[in-house]
Amino acid sequence: MKHEYKILYVPPSGTTAYCQHAWIAYVDDTCVGHIHMEVEANQRIKFLDAWVHEDYRRQGIYRKLWDTRWDFIHKDEEYGGFIVYAWCKPMSLPLLLDNGFVEGDTCIYVEKEIRKLSSNELCFVSC
Ligand SMILES: CC(C)(COP(=O)(O)OP(=O)(O)OC[C@H]1O[C@@H](n2cnc3c(N)ncnc32)[C@H](O)[C@@H]1OP(=O)(O)O)[C@@H](O)C(=O)NCCC(=O)NCCS
Repeated sequence: MKHEYKILYVPPSGTTAYCQHAWIAYVDDTCVGHIHMEVEANQRIKFLDAWVHEDYRRQGIYRKLWDTRWDFIHKDEEYGGFIVYAWCKPMSLPLLLDNGFVEGDTCIYVEKEIRKLSSNELCFVSC
């Protein structure tokens, strides 16, 4: 079933939590999806944090949010000549390729649990 949703634009206010532009898709006052963008130094823009709630996926919400952000950066001359980039997962990559982005390096996720060193474990000490 396709859901009716609206999109809210949240401009960056400059506070720590809101240094990014955000587009929020919402249904009945609840966020069901979002995307963000951050304007960086040297005329670069990072697209980030694409997410759609599992119950609302494959209904075109990500595509709609993406197009809204795309229109925003093209609507006046402010971002002309900037480079736009993103780190993608396989699910979000096709939309970027469709829009003319060129594939760069592959990034691999790694993780490790933080464990307490036992008291008799040797620890290298350096000043
Ligand atoms: C990726 C994500 C945002 C897509 O949201 P969505 O609203 O379901 O996407 P849409 O319905 O607008 O689909 C847009 C395009 O994305 C691609 N896509 C979306 N879901 C996909 C899937 N499960 N497998 C492969 N491609 C997929 C397709 O190219 C699709 O176009 P199509 O419907 O014409 O085939 C959503 O699955 C999600 O939140 N995933 C978890 C978080 C995540 O991985 N975020 C990306 C961080 S880089």
